[in-house]
Amino acid sequence: MDKKVNKKIEISLSNNKKIQLPIIESTEGPDVLDVRALYKESGYFTFDPGYLSTGSCESKITFIDGGKGILLHRGYTIEDLAKHADFMEVAYLLLHGDLPNIKEKEKFEKNIRYHTMLHEQMKTFIQGFRRDAHPMAVMVGTVGALSAFYRDSEDFSNSRQRLISTHRIIAKMPTIAAWAYKYSLGQPVIYPNNKLTYAENFMRMTFATPCEDYVSNPVITKAMNQLLILHADHEQNASTSTVRLAGSSGANPFACVAAGIASLWGPAHGGANEAVMNMLLKIKRNAKIKDFINRAKDPEDPFKLMGFGHRVYKNYDPRASVMRDACHNVLNELGRKNNPFLAIALDLEDAALNDSYFIKKKLYPNVDFYSGILLWALGFPLSMYTAVFAVARTVGWVAHWKEMIEDPTRKISRPRQLYTGHKKRDYIELDKRQKRKSIIKAISSIIKKGYQKS
Ligand code: CMC
Repeated sequence: MDKKVNKKIEISLSNNKKIQLPIIESTEGPDVLDVRALYKESGYFTFDPGYLSTGSCESKITFIDGGKGILLHRGYTIEDLAKHADFMEVAYLLLHGDLPNIKEKEKFEKNIRYHTMLHEQMKTFIQGFRRDAHPMAVMVGTVGALSAFYRDSEDFSNSRQRLISTHRIIAKMPTIAAWAYKYSLGQPVIYPNNKLTYAENFMRMTFATPCEDYVSNPVITKAMNQLLILHADHEQNASTSTVRLAGSSGANPFACVAAGIASLWGPAHGGANEAVMNMLLKIKRNAKIKDFINRAKDPEDPFKLMGFGHRVYKNYDPRASVMRDACHNVLNELGRKNNPFLAIALDLEDAALNDSYFIKKKLYPNVDFYSGILLWALGFPLSMYTAVFAVARTVGWVAHWKEMIEDPTRKISRPRQLYTGHKKRDYIELDKRQKRKSIIKAISSIIKKGYQKS
């Protein structure tokens, strides 16, 4: 990949040595200081837990301007994509770099449809879980297990196999998520119907039963498409970085996506949508908005207002605005204008956005704040919220995995650390350790008593 380097930063070290570090230009957003030679030249590592100032890779897929609240996929705004595109177009865009024409779209959809079925034995595999297992637990295990069923995808040095495995994962995720849900209900699984679109198929596999088919509703299909698009990618978030990190060692894509699902599950990431809805439910059952806001502001309380705040956005998350509008539209069109959750969410948002704590820390609603209400309106149970997020984000995960694998400069991800543990010390034989511990304890107690007397 050609990188533009026009400027350098000079750093003076304590031994009078000076080193120069190049600044690589970005097409949008901050340029980056290239510290790759820093350790070799200076003997220092950089220290940045949580990656507050660290770019972990080069990517051409997604750009976020957190200050202005802008999100672009391959240069297109999320607002335009959510308004005009369907999920398959966005999937193609993320994977291949441009929007498809009619022929390309048809071919892509055909390829995805071809892979929607799961190996029949996967059904038995899913039945091995407890009935009350969270769908995300089933998904972590089942997606990892795909690598045992599709061994031909192991050779991803072959570009065709690489593409097939990305299609397979995108195609099978709705089937896995829906089957995990069906299993939790004790209902028979519904096989994919390839006459339907991606969004319709997912809804049908989730909600149909052998005795009652699912009838698509264009309002719901449009909302589902929007929901999938809004969650499709978000540059180097925790789960995508996990997929890249796992993949950097050459692990197979199914295993990498399973790692991504595990990371997404956490309440600070994709698990937040479920947590937001739980909060709205508590408020509906008479808990006070004020109490949630006060807890979130209390420095002694680890509680965070779920669906608020973001590492990158210091402005309104553009996905949250689209999601809020989608909630209004869907509820209106379904004749459920007076949905209590939307009213509570709007009040909660209003209370937070007018509170000095949230204003000062630039905490705004993120994508998860309104997505739960939309999922509720579409009929999804709480336990499926993060699973739906995982289905959508799979497209981003595989696009990043593919970009990383195809980068000729790829290296295994291997961060360094600031070590603050013991210095080198002598090994103590097992039988002498207790004696030594007793002596140390006795000495400490004598010293303590001495202090207390004086
Ligand atoms: N409620 C109350 N205080 C908050 C919140 C919140 N939701 N979010 C951040 N803060 C405070 C935080 O305590 C910190 O205060 P101080 O500077 O006094 O220590 C300050 O704001 C900066 O926050 P941070 O935790 O250092 O920010 P971060 O970038 O490490 O974390 C976050 C970002 C999303 C994990 C965090 O805002 C959070 O936990 N939010 C609630 C969970 C949530 O909604 N997650 C979904 C994120 S968007 C979708 C996704 O990526 O999956």
